[in-house]
Amino acid sequence: MQSITPYPHMLHGCDYNPEQWRNRPEILDQDIIRMQQANINCASLGIFAWAALEPEEGRYDLDWLEEIMNRLHQRGIYTVLATPSAASPMWLAHKYPETRRVGADRIRILPGGRHNHCYTSPVYREKVRAVNEQLAARFAHHPGLILWHVGNEFQGECHCELCQAAFREWLRERYGTLDALNAAWWTAFWSNTYTDWEQIESPAPHGETAIHGLNLDWKRFCTAQTRSFLDAEIAVLKAANPVIPVTTNFMGFYDGLNYREIAKSLDVISWDSYPLWHSEQSGDESSSAFRADAFSDMCRCMLGKPFLLMENTPSQTNWQPVCRPKTWGFHRLTAVSCLAHGADSVQYFQWRQSRGCAEKFHGAVMTHANRTDTRVFQEVSDLGSTLKRLDALCGAKTVANIAILYDMESHWAVNDAKGPRNQGIGDTDLMLRFYLPFWKAGYAVDFVDAEADFSGYHLLCVPMLYLLRGDTAKRIRDFTLQGGTVILTMHSGVTDAHDLCYMGDTPAEGLAELAGIRFLEIDPLFDGQTETMHIQKAPFPLAESYRLERLCERVAAEGAEVLGVYDTGNPCMPDDLPCLTRHPFGRGTAYYLGGFAEERFFSDFLISLAERLGLLPALDTTLPHGVTAAARQGKDGTVFYFVMNWNREQKSVNLPFPLKDFETGKFYQSKLPLSPYGAKILIR
Ligand code: GLA
Ligand code: ZN
Repeated sequence: MQSITPYPHMLHGCDYNPEQWRNRPEILDQDIIRMQQANINCASLGIFAWAALEPEEGRYDLDWLEEIMNRLHQRGIYTVLATPSAASPMWLAHKYPETRRVGADRIRILPGGRHNHCYTSPVYREKVRAVNEQLAARFAHHPGLILWHVGNEFQGECHCELCQAAFREWLRERYGTLDALNAAWWTAFWSNTYTDWEQIESPAPHGETAIHGLNLDWKRFCTAQTRSFLDAEIAVLKAANPVIPVTTNFMGFYDGLNYREIAKSLDVISWDSYPLWHSEQSGDESSSAFRADAFSDMCRCMLGKPFLLMENTPSQTNWQPVCRPKTWGFHRLTAVSCLAHGADSVQYFQWRQSRGCAEKFHGAVMTHANRTDTRVFQEVSDLGSTLKRLDALCGAKTVANIAILYDMESHWAVNDAKGPRNQGIGDTDLMLRFYLPFWKAGYAVDFVDAEADFSGYHLLCVPMLYLLRGDTAKRIRDFTLQGGTVILTMHSGVTDAHDLCYMGDTPAEGLAELAGIRFLEIDPLFDGQTETMHIQKAPFPLAESYRLERLCERVAAEGAEVLGVYDTGNPCMPDDLPCLTRHPFGRGTAYYLGGFAEERFFSDFLISLAERLGLLPALDTTLPHGVTAAARQGKDGTVFYFVMNWNREQKSVNLPFPLKDFETGKFYQSKLPLSPYGAKILIR
């Protein structure tokens, strides 16, 4: 596997905003020397710098940027160059009101802020094209340029008239006729029938909110429109030099966009990781860590190769409810964990704290004190020196036999539905319940969406695939027929691509037959209410019973073997209603889980199942609580093992085979001691 940028080393970088310091040349001089001291090898420049690049309409000033890029490059620091499109400058927003974003309430925002523009406006697109063309003409062949960073954290919607017109056009292309659209959106309901395309408006709090097909198509359109904006930016950059890869930075579990679609336009995936650290009195950081690692795994799977950790804080994140700095030694742990889950970089927001405005108290490598003898500076440079030695990890792959299907369209639809539970349907939580035990035990997990190829996996977990479209069901069935093991859950195969309920038995499209069950009814629980699943027949060691919450789906077993049954506390109910079933199908097996089980069930069930399937974690040993492990295989065949201790106490791991500390060269025969919040990178 190749390195993901033209610079064949792990990146250690930072967002750098020299435009804020142009009247302080001595600061700019210091910065470059200090970046070197901190073992920084790349800087992300130009993010939100439009006003400095084009101070007046049509007058460009790129000299300062070129000078910085040159000076950085002379000292071995490469540039990740942003296009400035994520924040419209004041002059532009004032002069061209049509470029300003309009909210769902149809109020146009005033100039200012960021992510403040319309993705459709031809004027905005033209202004972006023009400034990007300047950047591309000047820098596309600059020897220091290794990556384009398009915009920043694409997000949000615009409901202006231009966007409404574009939406109608997009719908016309999709449906052809109003009749087809009316049928797809089930508009005979409440006299919602459209008789003219012009009647169609995007969802609004003071307007239409309950045509689910409209809501879903609007979300699809917003992704498509954002992607077309992004594509227009990329076209200009690639025209100047097709060799330089492009990325844009994602925001974790942000669900305003279907990142899988956006990813199709990118060469490299990158994301910005800001978990809430140190909120637990116990000092156990697992619950934030596993979510961050889950998103890293998603990023790794979007293009099937390593990703960049484009931003993380070296200390505090100033927008959390309480902004605790990463405690002593903790930064290295978070960074190593990202590497373990597929990152080929550790980059910071930000190099230097701004003096004013919204982020003046955000963590940075350089604080207002402007000193290098700080703990944070030391930890950052130590990490940088570790990264310098990790060339063999660049491009290293993760081999996963387990996949979790998480599909954004299904997520949108199930959360938009009225009922069965309007206090949070919990599809993402359910997905994370599948992920957590694998993360704890050190099994590699891929995330796939409904369009993915499942054939390479042994175990496919399909939590709450409510919206079932295209040939996904067929591919899940084929996967099982050919010997795969699949786990389906409650509230799956309920609606089609238009979010219209399937008629007939569900889970639809043959998934009921696959699981050997048939849906009867779904009983949601209030927060705090529980039911119980009694295990009747355990195919492998399980507890006698497990708590259920949120959703309890009753099914009839039609061919499936019943492993667990409901205890609802209602004596009128039969006591053999299936909650967990197993059904051989072709050469494989389908499990079905009807109740939203507690975490303990998932760890007992999934780990036993993985063992039964002969799947192996990174380290075949029992890891102490809060200690995780992962592995990546380098291009030269070296396997890197990562062991992370998310506890504030010392732990030790029984090693299944001797390992050598990659950094110190020390050998560990059978016991690996881990310091509090310690992280080790090991090889065999
Ligand atoms: C985001 C943005 C950055 C900065 C950080 C602060 O990730 O991309 O510009 O605002 O948040 O945490
Ligand atoms: Zn708009």
